[in-house]
Parts: sequence; C-alpha cells; structure tokens
Amino acid sequence: MAGLNIVPTGGGVGAEVRGVDLRAIDDAGFAAIERAWIAHQVLLFRGQALSDDDLIGFSACFGGLDWAPVQETGRRFVEGRPELYIVSNVMVNGEPIGSLGAGEAVWHTDMSYLPEPPKASLLYALEIPPSGGDTSFVNMYTAYETLPDDLKARARGLKVKHDGTYNSGGFLRQGVVPTDDPRQSPGHLHPMVCTHPESGRRMLYLGRRRNAYVDGLDLAESEALLDAIWAHVCQPRFCWTNQWQVGDLVLWDNRCTMHRRDPFDNSARRVMHRTQVKGAAPPAA
Ligand code: OGA
Ligand code: MN
Repeated sequence: MAGLNIVPTGGGVGAEVRGVDLRAIDDAGFAAIERAWIAHQVLLFRGQALSDDDLIGFSACFGGLDWAPVQETGRRFVEGRPELYIVSNVMVNGEPIGSLGAGEAVWHTDMSYLPEPPKASLLYALEIPPSGGDTSFVNMYTAYETLPDDLKARARGLKVKHDGTYNSGGFLRQGVVPTDDPRQSPGHLHPMVCTHPESGRRMLYLGRRRNAYVDGLDLAESEALLDAIWAHVCQPRFCWTNQWQVGDLVLWDNRCTMHRRDPFDNSARRVMHRTQVKGAAPPAA
C-alpha cells in the first residue's frame, strides 16, 4: 500500500506504522501490516478515527473475534457487541463502564487462563488522562533468548498454570471463588516455553505472576523458579512504553508479548475499547 511506513520504536519491542487510515486498507495494505505485526510484535497506529464498527472490522481482518471477558460487575460492556471490551475508570450511575479501574494493571497476557487464548488484542484510545496510564510491552522472544542457560534448560519441558481468578487490575473475575493458593485456583496449564506458530521463534509464555504455578513442583520450588524467571523478564531493555494519545490504536501479538499499565489519577477519565482475535493453544517448543 502506498505510503505505509514502518518505524521501529527504538525500544525492546514494537514499531509505529505511519501513513495508514485503518478504515480504508486494501488487501496489499493488510498483508504488509500483518507482516510487520509478526516481525515487530506490537504496532502503534496514531491519529485514527475509528467507530466501534471500524475497530471490529479491522480486527476481523486477522480472524474471528473472541468474546470479551464480562465486566467485573458481571455485565457485558456493550449490549449486542460481545466482542468489545472496555477499559475504563469512568462511572455512570455508580457503575464503572469498563474494567481495570485507575490503578496499576500488572504484567500479563490477555485471557491466557483459557486453553486457546487470543492471538492478538487491539486497543483503541478514546479518552486519555493528562498524565499516567501509560502502557508498556515486553518482548518474550528476547526474554527467552537472554535467559541464563540453566534457567532456559529448566524452563523447557515445564508447564505453568495461568490463573483465572484475578484480572490484571487485581479485581476478582465474575463467578470465581477467590483463592490465593496457586495449586487450587482456576486456570489453564500452558508450556512455559512455546514456539510461535507463525514466526517459528521460541518464546517464554508466562501469562501473569499472581497465582501462577509450575505444574508438578512443590509450591516453594515453583515460587522460587517463577520469581527467578520473572526477575529476568521484566527488564527495561526488553520493553517499550506507549504514552497514549487520543486516536492511538495499538495492536499486539498476545502470544509473544506481555503488557502492563501505569496507574493514573482516578478523577481523570480514561476510555479505551478493545477487541481480541481468536488464537490456538500455544505449542510447546
Ligand atoms: C488490555 C489492557 C491496559 C491499558 O486492554 O488488555 O491490559 O493500558 N489494557 O488499558
Ligand atoms: Mn490486557
């Protein structure tokens, strides 16, 4: 597509795609975007003007969309639009219109407590606080490749429980009995080291730290191994942070990255709409 320009962020992951209106991409343009997404893992498109239908339409170019998790209140975010997830601290009639509040959202991959987590998430910024609420991404290929040899060798062959009790904002998911015993909590086991089905590269696949559990180990041993691996993963050199502007669309590969969000002042408004593209079970490396 004429004018499409891919500029790496200069950080540990991601690129900005310039010169594209996501409401009007042709087949060649989409193919170039998909290639850039596999290569850079996270893509930022600034200055977009997307309706919910536009967001859903562009997202569906990547494949079928998953239904979003229900809100912490048990409600669907938008009646008739089950594929839309709203991230927001805004309250209407005493109820939040979205999830995750205004606090920190800790490092995680979306919906990996499912056997077949989404392969991509697309997050679109409608309202942004004057400061705070930045979102960081970490590159799970380089996190794996740079692991010390002993940890790398240990990690392969192990499976990790991806907890489904709490979301990344620390809120209890709807319909779940709270527990802080990682051996008992609901979730799904995935291989700790996976092969990305499209790039063929190896990556760490961790999901989230809270209530994570390495299958078959003593709890103390599991905690110690996870702490060692997480201490390595969350280094700034593997990361890139987006300072949001209204009209930003960020598309991430949900298999080979994790993300987190800084807290922000709860008296400011932040409204983001998200979709998630169906994926397959991540294959062991
Ligand atoms: C998400 C998410 C963080 C943010 O939408 O999956 O984690 O910055 N969002 O809103
Ligand atoms: Mn998320």
